[in-house]
Amino acid sequence: MPEDPGTYAARYRIRLKTREQVEGIRKCGQLALETLDLVEKMIRPGITTGQIDEVVHRFTIDNGARPAPLNYRGFPKSVCTSVNEVICHGIPGPRVLKDGDIINVDVTPVLNGYYADVNKTFFVGDPGPDALKIVTVAKRCLKEGLAMVRPGNTIGDIGWAIQQWAESNGCSVVREFVGHGVGLAFHEPPQVPHYGNRGEGVRLVPGMVFTIEPMINLGGPELDILEDRWTAVTRDGSLSAQFEQTVLVYEDGWESLTPFEL
Ligand code: MF3
Ligand code: CO
Ligand code: CO
Repeated sequence: MPEDPGTYAARYRIRLKTREQVEGIRKCGQLALETLDLVEKMIRPGITTGQIDEVVHRFTIDNGARPAPLNYRGFPKSVCTSVNEVICHGIPGPRVLKDGDIINVDVTPVLNGYYADVNKTFFVGDPGPDALKIVTVAKRCLKEGLAMVRPGNTIGDIGWAIQQWAESNGCSVVREFVGHGVGLAFHEPPQVPHYGNRGEGVRLVPGMVFTIEPMINLGGPELDILEDRWTAVTRDGSLSAQFEQTVLVYEDGWESLTPFEL
């Protein structure tokens, strides 16, 4: 007798979401997307990453939610802002954005107890060729990963598709940070690596909700963590870009709970 999906998921400590929970995560996802839209409108040379934090914090609170990053394992701000060679977990502060920069903004509100996690990389002013390339490749990597999501496929299929696209375009995939289950907590099982082999890893079953969030470097995949113990930067100083969505596996395939055009 084939194993029941709930039993299979439970073996990996994965909590399948009910219809009601999915609705809660979707609503939170809508707020997260509105927050990113607001951020996009303010991005221009001359603003600081600290100003982005203020806007995200205020907008989140005003909408009856709370920013998950604030005080999460000691993270001091309400949003991650990662500029140029910063891969992820950049801490907002006095850094001034300049023309030609790229900046990833990663927002995770908690609304009525539900978490949705989404990020985009934006251009500041006019992008140069390297900025254009890494952002284009990273965005397509998320799209390739999402296209693998359906019951019966595995987590390895997602990572394989992402790695394939990144490396065949001369870019590299960060290994130290991965996608993750999300919805009832910030980070739940399973882990979702953005590299891997077809057919390997946990099998996808309807009701799973997780992020795909490939961090793609223009140079090598190696990273360093700065003295602040959060900021991850490329070791070779090359540009890094990322896009993230929260995705639901359902009977016929996938549905983004934080949809934006890719
Ligand atoms: N939002 C990040 C993710 O995609 C996690 C940030 S943790 C924080 O998983 F503490 F830096 F906010
Ligand atoms: Co995430
Ligand atoms: Co995130």
